[in-house]
Amino acid sequence: MTLGDVDKEKTIHPFPSEVQENYDASQAGTNKASKGGIIYADYLQLDKIINAQELVSEKKGNKIHDEHLFIITHQAYELWFKQILWELDSVREIFQNGHVRDERNMLKVISRIHRIATILKLLVDQFAVLETMTALDFFDFRNYLVPASGFQSLQFRLIENKIGVPENLRVPYNRKHYRDNFKGRENELLRQSEMEPTLLQLVEQWLERTPGLEPDGFDFWGKLKINIEAGLEEEFTNLQKSNPAFEEKEDMLLEFNKRKEMLTSLFDEKRHEHLLSKGERRVSYKAMQGALMIYFYREEPRFQVPFQLLNSLMDIDALMTKWRYNHVCMAQRMIGGKAGTGGSSGYQYLRSTMSDRYKVFVDLFNLATFLVPRHWIPKLTSSIHKFLYTAECCDSSYFSSEESD
Ligand code: HEM
Repeated sequence: MTLGDVDKEKTIHPFPSEVQENYDASQAGTNKASKGGIIYADYLQLDKIINAQELVSEKKGNKIHDEHLFIITHQAYELWFKQILWELDSVREIFQNGHVRDERNMLKVISRIHRIATILKLLVDQFAVLETMTALDFFDFRNYLVPASGFQSLQFRLIENKIGVPENLRVPYNRKHYRDNFKGRENELLRQSEMEPTLLQLVEQWLERTPGLEPDGFDFWGKLKINIEAGLEEEFTNLQKSNPAFEEKEDMLLEFNKRKEMLTSLFDEKRHEHLLSKGERRVSYKAMQGALMIYFYREEPRFQVPFQLLNSLMDIDALMTKWRYNHVCMAQRMIGGKAGTGGSSGYQYLRSTMSDRYKVFVDLFNLATFLVPRHWIPKLTSSIHKFLYTAECCDSSYFSSEESD
């Protein structure tokens, strides 16, 4: 017997009265709407969703009120995960098919990425509802759940994989590969998702094509290097000329040298490759140049949407981290230092997933390290300026197909 059958009065009246009437009548097969068009409850297959809450505690003969909230919360999360995957797949498809070269599609990309971020905001806050359950109430039914765990959420892992959490940077769980928790088709879907191009890789390829990077064209990188060297030289001369107290000057010199080292490291490709191999950087040297260029020239019409995209990608990373943070806080509140129902160390394991290992677009965050005074930014030449200013050539997304293929 399902909960819907047991307690129908209480469980299936969350709608306005006329909607509920339609629903009830349709169940009896007498509804007016059913003669013509589709009706609300059928369209949404509510009979499946509304009756999909089976309390294990009830089955075991010890019905615990809060288990209902626990199930509904997880189901709501899984539904939103599904929507995130829907948007994520569509965005990846636009990039993969090269449709991103049509600038009109960039707006589609950015609005879908923005939608993902908006859903994630909701999911970050949604834990508050489950937190109205006390640890003791949870304790009443927790044992019935073993060994089920959010760790077995296929959709959550697919989201991580499709965005670009690398397999080798995952925190080991019970000394097992994360995929070992999934069998059959689920395992296969995860394996497949690891092989498909991730959002990160697709954005990386797109960034590599940023106009203005060509050494034989505007040569943004070459010009930036010259400007930074000249700017640092000027700063050093001014520092030498200044007359602060000896100790203060020492400190200033120390600061200057640190800044110089950090800024000049930007042009050290070998260092970049080394950091890439350690997972501390995630995108190619060229893609990083493209991202920095978009940062610097974000006010140019052609770069406004790309800049918004980079911002929304950071939002996604930040919100995933907030999700992990709120989830771990809630887990600690509910189970303290106990092991998880899925067999992990619980709190300790979850805490370790909040590090930068899981931040996919970490390079975009770190770009702020390399921002320089506005007057060090290379001035646009008239041809590149005209190119970045004009937006009428809508089928290029910066490039002709021959160049970008
Ligand atoms: C009382 C509430 C909750 C507690 C105490 C809790 C606890 C835990 C624990 C201890 C783990 C580590 C794996 C394990 O050993 O089981 C975990 C993993 C996970 N949980 Fe929860 N959880 C709760 C609610 C939720 C909700 C509402 C969701 C929403 C979908 C969720 C999704 C996940 C996911 C996706 C993981 C895997 C995280 C990762 O490996 O990075 N959990 N949870």
